[in-house]
Amino acid sequence: MGLGSTQTNSIGCYNVILESVPLMLESVKSASVKPGSVFTIVDYGCADGGTSMPLLYACVKELRQTYGDDLPIHVIYEDQPVNDFKSLYLRLQGLIPGPNSYFLDFANTFVSTCGTNFYSQCIPPESVNLGFSSTAMHWLRDKPCDITGALHHTMITVPEETEKFKNQAAHDWETLLLARAKELVSGKKSLFRQLAPIICLQLVSGLNRDVRSPGA
Ligand SMILES: C[S@@+](CC[C@H](N)C(=O)[O-])C[C@H]1O[C@@H](n2cnc3c(N)ncnc32)[C@H](O)[C@@H]1O
Repeated sequence: MGLGSTQTNSIGCYNVILESVPLMLESVKSASVKPGSVFTIVDYGCADGGTSMPLLYACVKELRQTYGDDLPIHVIYEDQPVNDFKSLYLRLQGLIPGPNSYFLDFANTFVSTCGTNFYSQCIPPESVNLGFSSTAMHWLRDKPCDITGALHHTMITVPEETEKFKNQAAHDWETLLLARAKELVSGKKSLFRQLAPIICLQLVSGLNRDVRSPGA
């Protein structure tokens, strides 16, 4: 641990996140920031933060251009307690090779980590301005059953097993969205890019849910 190997070897995940940059910048541009407030961004299921660095760099740059240097920007990285948070801090400080770190290039930026579980509320109520997650929220909370003759749910051949996985996923997804809705500042957005038929979903707290197809 501590060498950033997880995300140095995840080119597919990098590309998925790069495709999200326009949507995230759209959200940043439409944000209304109150004078004296802190702008908080959360990366849920961040791993070692390598793949989301270019996206977060672009968001911080946009916020700086729009609101100037006085706006404190807080990025919270969330993942499981066993996550490689050491590599994340090494990346942020430029101590291992990787994309440029917004933390080094922009003053008045702050980072912290949350090693809990995104099926619970992770962040205090109404304190997140922009939430993001990529290729993480398809991890179910529990395995609903063993899979006959295979290890991965995409290879299920028994209909009852498919049904159990579907039910588990639906229940987990609702749990997860309700937790995010508590964390978001009213009217602010979360963007989730997932390995699923609907891969890109925006949750707007207090307003509505806006489901977009890939490339929308
Ligand atoms: C495939 S990696 C994706 C990492 C990064 N978001 C990306 O797109 O490159 C999935 C991440 O989700 C995290 N994860 C899975 N279940 C989680 C949970 N219940 N709470 C928080 N993080 C979780 C894993 O620990 C892992 O770091």
